[in-house]
Amino acid sequence: MTSAAEIFAAHVSRPLSAPVEANVFAPSNIALSKYWGKRDKALNLPLNSSLSISLGQWGTETRIAPADVDSLVFNAELMAKDAPAAAKVWTFVDLFCGDNRPALAIETTNSIPTAAGLASSASGFAALTAALDAAFQTDLPKATLSMLARFGSGSATRSFWHGFVRWDAGQADDGTDSYAYPIDAALPDFRIAIVAVDTGPKAQSSTDGMTHTVATSPLYAPWPARAEADCAAIEAAVWAGDFATLGQLAEDNALAMHATMMAARPAVTYLKPQSWAVLDTLWAARRDGLQAFATMDAGANVKLIFEDPSTADVQSLFPDAQIINPFEAPPAGSV
Ligand code: PMV
Repeated sequence: MTSAAEIFAAHVSRPLSAPVEANVFAPSNIALSKYWGKRDKALNLPLNSSLSISLGQWGTETRIAPADVDSLVFNAELMAKDAPAAAKVWTFVDLFCGDNRPALAIETTNSIPTAAGLASSASGFAALTAALDAAFQTDLPKATLSMLARFGSGSATRSFWHGFVRWDAGQADDGTDSYAYPIDAALPDFRIAIVAVDTGPKAQSSTDGMTHTVATSPLYAPWPARAEADCAAIEAAVWAGDFATLGQLAEDNALAMHATMMAARPAVTYLKPQSWAVLDTLWAARRDGLQAFATMDAGANVKLIFEDPSTADVQSLFPDAQIINPFEAPPAGSV
């Protein structure tokens, strides 16, 4: 069986050259067809493909510079090396660099408002992987960066491009065919609204939630095939520029994912009463003609997708929602 260290050693040529200063931005992303379930935990391989939309200017900027001692500054705060989030970062850096790596100063900043309550592991591990590649001038193809970032977080595979991105589950035992690529069809009117319900840390990590669901939910068995079909249908709708089909499929896919969790024993419940209240309001407005759809991840917040002509209606229903144009110009230094 191949280990994570062997995969990195096979793709990142060693010895590494001396690091230079590098600064990279990677966008966050939201899955329209969800990744839920791992076929291999050690290699972080998914049971199904997924398709996302990147969040334009919302993401993570990471700067890496040579240093005398290791340091990690996250959102202007120096992190202890053994703090859980920092430990994940250093484990990843060690995997990328191999033995005897030089000390590094890493500075990482999220442009995602904390109030939006969005997880930042997708953009965080994509920016970290791309910054390591730039700092050590390893010049890896984006597909390889995406494959390697998977070891930090599955959703990070999709954060190397703007717009629509598909992560193929792949079939190889060593996971070298499990990475993402862009779906180069722009829908310039596409908009996202983040309706924040709960901005605190999540009660259960996505890894724990999906592992428990796969192990105990009687509704999980049909999920991988359903998710694969949804992914293909959403991709076709993107290419066709058919927003209504895309939106309905994305909402159905998210609710089906949450249904697999609710049937787990005991249930995995990320949605809160307020999430359901947002859905009720949305569905009532949709009956009155609004073309907007919802998607929810491993948390209580609700993300709406719609087209620009509906922006004013969405804003009047959810005045505190943050509206994102995923096709606005990316920030300088973006992947
Ligand atoms: O890869 P993670 O640990 O960020 O898990 C992502 C899980 C979902 O957000 C629920 C779905 C997805 O495809 O992003």
